[in-house]
Amino acid sequence: MFKPTVARNSFKALNTARPAAFAASRPAAAFTRPLSYTPALHKKSNDPSKDPIEAATTRAPEGASGEHEGQFARTDESVHIEYPPDSEMPAQPVVQGRGGKHFKRTLAQFSLEKKVSMVTGGARGLGLVMGQGLVASGSDLAIVDLNRDEAVTAAQSLIDQFRKENPGIEDTDMPTVTAHYADVANPDSVNAALTEVLEKHGQIDNLVTSAGFTENFDAINYPFDRMQKLWGVNVDGTYLFAIGVAKHLMERKAPGSIVMIGSMSGAIVNVPQPQAPYNAAKAAVRHLAASLAVEWAGHDIRVNCISPGYMLTALTRKILDENPQLRDKWTSLIPAGKMGTPEDLMGAVTFLLSDASKYITGAELRVDGGYTVT
Ligand SMILES: NC(=O)c1ccc[n+]([C@@H]2O[C@H](COP(=O)([O-])OP(=O)(O)OC[C@H]3O[C@@H](n4cnc5c(N)ncnc54)[C@H](O)[C@@H]3O)[C@@H](O)[C@H]2O)c1
Repeated sequence: MFKPTVARNSFKALNTARPAAFAASRPAAAFTRPLSYTPALHKKSNDPSKDPIEAATTRAPEGASGEHEGQFARTDESVHIEYPPDSEMPAQPVVQGRGGKHFKRTLAQFSLEKKVSMVTGGARGLGLVMGQGLVASGSDLAIVDLNRDEAVTAAQSLIDQFRKENPGIEDTDMPTVTAHYADVANPDSVNAALTEVLEKHGQIDNLVTSAGFTENFDAINYPFDRMQKLWGVNVDGTYLFAIGVAKHLMERKAPGSIVMIGSMSGAIVNVPQPQAPYNAAKAAVRHLAASLAVEWAGHDIRVNCISPGYMLTALTRKILDENPQLRDKWTSLIPAGKMGTPEDLMGAVTFLLSDASKYITGAELRVDGGYTVT
């Protein structure tokens, strides 16, 4: 394996082994930026054919591959995805036929029985369906969302669906599912939500941070206040809930598991829609998970990151129905040939919250149909 310390030490050794006269004749800058120091070997000519470096290159001249060159690998500033205002966001239906009692043998380690899980952004989209997966796996659930009404409706839908899929179940065996308001980007609001959840459930064992959003502006024209909001929800919101839950777990001296929802955009650059701040925010989420995993490992608090690829939620379905060319473009780039569904995250999130992944912390699990490996 490549070890940076080994590289550093051998570089130091090389430097000290140099003759003193050579070291003294080097400009001072060579010692502050040694790895990128490239002395000019020749005077640059305006005529490329006379330039020895240009003459030796195998690079194809501009346009040599035809008009299509790079076209599927670049962002396009003219692509503008219309996200509806929050009041018109389509509600996410709970999924059918996934949570019923089953009699297939499976590892008991996957069970979340006697656990309380909290999902931010759980009123809709991926958060709602992941929450459903956690309830089906035995957990109680606290849904936290900016949209209180939708969170209340979602909590009731989960209860109704659970009862339907488990006919004859005793009331005492029913899961507790609650709904709570929070603006994840606001520390006071986060603390108030944590207090409310603890009042209702008595404890929190697991956290999933799914509150987040994306939007598309080219970098030059990204309104600064929108960018701050995007970072506030995607990064600060993830951080604030993580530290709140970790503090509670440390006070209880209880083990816990946190799953941060990142995105494949934290590792690659999506095309054609421009979204630089979102991509950077999701890279921050991924590294936050790794960093907190190390910081809290001694407290038995695990922190991992799930990075979904393109997933078909009620919202993305609406956007793509209105932009079929964009759907074709996206699916053409996914080795699996299709977008994922929110249900594709149910198993991944259950695994990372459960004892089945007891020795996994600081990891990123990409659920992207192979997008990021091509
Ligand atoms: N859908 C995808 O294709 C996809 C792909 C990769 C990553 N993701 C990530 O998954 C997460 C969920 O995305 P989704 O597609 O389910 O989105 P969504 O818009 O359907 O759901 C997001 C939820 O977060 C809530 N929310 C937004 N701002 C909030 C705030 N300030 N405080 C509290 N709640 C807030 C919304 O009310 C909503 O219920 C996001 O972090 C997103 O970046 C989504």
